[in-house]
Amino acid sequence: MSGTTVYQFTALLQSGLKELYPEQEINQMAKLLLQHVLKVGNTQLLLMNRELLSDDQLRSLATMTQQLQQHIPIQYIMGSTFFYGLEFCVNPSVLIPRPETEELVDWILSDNASPVNVLDIGTGSGCIAISLKANLPNTQVSAWDISEAALKTARQNANQLQQIVDFQYVDVLAHQPTDEQFDCIVSNPPYVRELEKAMMEANVLEHEPHTALFVDDQDPLIFYRTIAQHGLTMLKPGGRLYFEINEYLAKEMMDLLTSLGYTSIECRKDINGKDRMMRAIK
Ligand SMILES: C[S@@+](CC[C@H](N)C(=O)[O-])C[C@H]1O[C@@H](n2cnc3c(N)ncnc32)[C@H](O)[C@@H]1O
Repeated sequence: MSGTTVYQFTALLQSGLKELYPEQEINQMAKLLLQHVLKVGNTQLLLMNRELLSDDQLRSLATMTQQLQQHIPIQYIMGSTFFYGLEFCVNPSVLIPRPETEELVDWILSDNASPVNVLDIGTGSGCIAISLKANLPNTQVSAWDISEAALKTARQNANQLQQIVDFQYVDVLAHQPTDEQFDCIVSNPPYVRELEKAMMEANVLEHEPHTALFVDDQDPLIFYRTIAQHGLTMLKPGGRLYFEINEYLAKEMMDLLTSLGYTSIECRKDINGKDRMMRAIK
């Protein structure tokens, strides 16, 4: 591969991955890998098209190509991803933050000018909690997760992004609500049913943490029911509950929140037109 220019690397990656990913996605991956290895932005990369890649750079790119061939997500390979304009470290202990979750953060921010406090349940990389804190500097943000490894990553992200969030180890399914009261509770809990596994891509199924993704087919709303029940005591009167939801279970979610006495329940679609977010008021 020596004598390869920046421009030629995209064609090399195309030939290495063409059986596995669509052409456009491979072009995007080539751009991200080159930016990562050359430590440059998009514009600078375009100006470097004719430059030769060094042996070290080619070795790194070859290793990353092999990892992509093993379906390892590019965000884990590079060790970071962007969410709501901020760069988050990611590793296989945390779910890779998704664009639809950015839409949920956007909804919360447009609804709530200055909440006193917010709780994020199932925080993973900390992407929701930290983005909220960055945009609501006077709000106290708490965040729970059952994974110590995820909490470690979330704390690292908060430190790097210079945001103060109170991360706590809590199993929400075993938690007894306390007297603490919040203006907003938000959660993107595990919501993929085992029966939906067949529809999932290998990179998600084989590499992202299963505790972050899956729920039992017999009780797919267990997290939502538990969190909404906690919300009855942990939300202030008029406090808001925000969920990212399973696109196939919007009706069941509406029924659940109605039966618990929540009002003004609203479902929103994500950018792909799928029922993806729900808000309810206590
Ligand atoms: C779908 S991921 C969401 C991660 C992150 N909030 C995001 O939006 O990218 C769900 C998270 O819930 C956590 N989780 C799973 N079971 C839990 C439990 N019983 N109590 C608290 N957190 C839990 C997982 O560890 C995971 O980090």
